[in-house]
Amino acid sequence: MNEIVYMDAAASFLKPKSVINAEMDFLCCHYANAGRGVCARVAWVDNMVRDVRRMVANFINAHESQVVFTANATDGLNRVVNIITRQPFYNKSFVCAVSDLDHHSARMPWHDLARRGQIAQVIKCDLDDNFDIKIDSIPRADVLVVTAMSNVLGVAQDVAAIVSAARKKNPNVIVVVDATQYVVHENIDVCAWNADFVVMSGHKIGADTGVGILYIRDSQNLEPDKFGGGMVARIDDKKWVLQDVPEKWEAGTLPLTQIRGLGVAVEELKKSRPDLRLIKYMYDELKKNPRIKILTGRDAAMLSFVIDGMHVLDFGSLVGANGICVRVGNMCASWIHRILGVDGTVRVSVGPWNTGVDADKFISVVNKIVK
Ligand SMILES: Cc1ncc(COP(=O)(O)O)c(C=O)c1O
Repeated sequence: MNEIVYMDAAASFLKPKSVINAEMDFLCCHYANAGRGVCARVAWVDNMVRDVRRMVANFINAHESQVVFTANATDGLNRVVNIITRQPFYNKSFVCAVSDLDHHSARMPWHDLARRGQIAQVIKCDLDDNFDIKIDSIPRADVLVVTAMSNVLGVAQDVAAIVSAARKKNPNVIVVVDATQYVVHENIDVCAWNADFVVMSGHKIGADTGVGILYIRDSQNLEPDKFGGGMVARIDDKKWVLQDVPEKWEAGTLPLTQIRGLGVAVEELKKSRPDLRLIKYMYDELKKNPRIKILTGRDAAMLSFVIDGMHVLDFGSLVGANGICVRVGNMCASWIHRILGVDGTVRVSVGPWNTGVDADKFISVVNKIVK
């Protein structure tokens, strides 16, 4: 049906048929709002949301009361900032530690706070020669943002060890983990990580756009950041009683269709993760081309490179004209590009739909374009 070779899973996953079918079934046969009313359809939807939440909670080793549905990872990462800055323990002298592995979505909200004088400073964790976060020099901070896997380098960080080092410097450090890419390739155990917040995007794991996952460790006691329908049990002019967790975190109508798809996507991902032998194979083949400089390791979850004498945007257009989709540009991760000394890269990332035939087609197109 589709002649395109899509090797841009890290930008957005293609949707398994089962996800599409589940969403269709929901829209055609079960659709209603959740948590509003008592009719049979609402009950079906409430149960569905509960089931998916439970499934996601099991998937990351959380309790279902700690799993909040958001719009995407960016929404989750921005919400975390809004949540933290409205808690009684927050103050403007906070120091936030980030790293050059971060996506713009993970780090910009903190720079914005600093720029507006709402926190004292954004400082950086050092990276070692392999571009991993240096555990023995983790700085003391009030907030630590950890990118569990860079969307350019595709290497899993040792989050538990990083968090443990940070907590030795400050036992009260608030840890925010961006697991958007990590979750595609690795199992997550939020308890083992000892993190306060963990963020993911549904569309990167085969669900639809418009749904994300936010794990909030202390969901019970923290003040919510959003107010409105669905999250309040009783209200008068002066006071209110909020719903219990996790509903107190979910003001407004949820992305119900996408949540339905997310449950199926998680099941699919557990059955089949992207086959990284394809990345190794393409790595070995591209290594033979002297004009290609590979910036990622052979064991990475993605393959990023630059081409001697060719701009990555030109390369992207040329492979695109040959029916191949890969990502080119700065991947919304300017900082790591700066460290690598390049403006942009080509990034190849595979999903469960990719085969050796796709990899061979890519290699032959690259070798035709880059002689
Ligand atoms: C590591 C990482 N964090 C955050 C994001 C933002 O995800 P979204 O655009 O789904 O909000 C991305 C997207 O590429 C990412 O790779």
